[in-house]
Amino acid sequence: MTDRSATLTVNGNNIELPIHSGNLGPDVVDVAKLTSQGCFTYDPGFVSTAACESKLTYIDGDQGILLHGGYPIDQLAEQSSHMEVCYLLLNGELPSAEQLAAFEAEINAEMAVDDQFANVYTAFPRDAHPMAILTSAFGVLAARYHSDIDNNDPVSRRKVAMQVIAKTPTLAAMGYRYSKGLDFIAPRADLNYAENFLNMTFGDGSPDAKVNPTLAKAMDRIFILHADHEQNASTSTVRLSGSTGTNPFAAIAAGVTALWGPSHGGANEAVLEMLNEIGDVSNIDTFIDRAKDRDDPFRLMGFGHRVYKNFDPRARVMKISADEVLKELGKEGEPLLAVAKRLERIAIEDSYFADRKLYPNVDFYSGLILQAIGIPTAMFTVIFALGRCPGWIAHWCEMMAGPLKIGRPRQLYTGPVQRDYVNIDKR
Ligand code: SDX
Repeated sequence: MTDRSATLTVNGNNIELPIHSGNLGPDVVDVAKLTSQGCFTYDPGFVSTAACESKLTYIDGDQGILLHGGYPIDQLAEQSSHMEVCYLLLNGELPSAEQLAAFEAEINAEMAVDDQFANVYTAFPRDAHPMAILTSAFGVLAARYHSDIDNNDPVSRRKVAMQVIAKTPTLAAMGYRYSKGLDFIAPRADLNYAENFLNMTFGDGSPDAKVNPTLAKAMDRIFILHADHEQNASTSTVRLSGSTGTNPFAAIAAGVTALWGPSHGGANEAVLEMLNEIGDVSNIDTFIDRAKDRDDPFRLMGFGHRVYKNFDPRARVMKISADEVLKELGKEGEPLLAVAKRLERIAIEDSYFADRKLYPNVDFYSGLILQAIGIPTAMFTVIFALGRCPGWIAHWCEMMAGPLKIGRPRQLYTGPVQRDYVNIDKR
């Protein structure tokens, strides 16, 4: 960080505020001492607020750039694997072949959950939303491992990170099997991460069942594209919750609840519902008009982003992948793909969207791939959580490794000034 300063004049007083520079991206003005000068910054939604320092992921919203450990997302999606990206997020460097093999073996060995876990699911109706179930499943992990965890020990933190990454696909698959009244399938040593998830979800339970390599590759790429995304709402939730020193699985559960919202990870489910509601390209204009109508709460799901004011680089990769997967599965005639592509073209050409720099985001095309793979719409956000859990736990580890300061924002108070209590017989 370089030390320059900004001068802020408040009520006639000049306040010198240090300016820090990172390796990429905007400088930050350090406002920590403003409180002692009698004022706060005010930034609802944290549009202009950097809440922490991080080395994990860099986003340039204007250029549509996303880097993990300095590596562009399109190169990682094209050339690496989800396990490599998980290793990169946890260690800051891509693994050697030996390191990757050891990492994959350690994750594979950690994927199983004990039989007690089956009871988590029976507490829910079969049609319960799988994000509600996943939230609770992390609560059970918190209970199961609470006494084993020392947040201050890097070895303990790494074990938690491996457990989060390894067990989330198992918990997700169990949620699907439970919803269908099917027996649970255990992870297998001979399958990789994406293959195991697909087999635990859709397998027939036979010990040598094969997994379609096209689907496994598409699943792995979906995981890569969701792995981390700087200080988004769910990651910030994990950091804020974790800043109190809480159980890390509980902090991840908090992240799951934040991701569920339709403005965030829940958008992928909402995109498919929207495309199904549109149904045919002839209906698109009606939905575009609704999206532009300020009196109509409807928004074009899968469009817009707090940071990207250009194409979301993940959406570009996802669009290519959607074409490839649907073609390889003989579903290129999928009518919803035509609706999605037409909707994208109309929206991008429309001044309302262009003026507000609203482009397709990561959620716009992902649902078409997930649907082609056979994932039910209600599970789309669970897949997002599965992909994002390496990012969540990598941010938790990064935060816990540094000087820990509990997150505690302030407010602009506009409530009643002090007044005396009035007895009820006088009100
Ligand atoms: C994810 O932060 C991350 O990194 C998130 C994420 C990650 O990987 O973690 O990238 C994943 O959450 C992607 C976003 C998924 N959500 C959606 O697709 C839902 C639809 N999008 C919108 O809800 C919205 O675009 C947000 C929530 C994504 C961003 O909202 P902002 O930054 O708060 O923007 P805003 O609401 O202030 O909108 C600015 C203007 C408004 O119009 P005006 O007041 O200027 O007239 O743009 C309009 C909005 O009404 N607008 C939209 C719109 N998104 C914004 N109008 C129609 N359809 C939309 N989708």
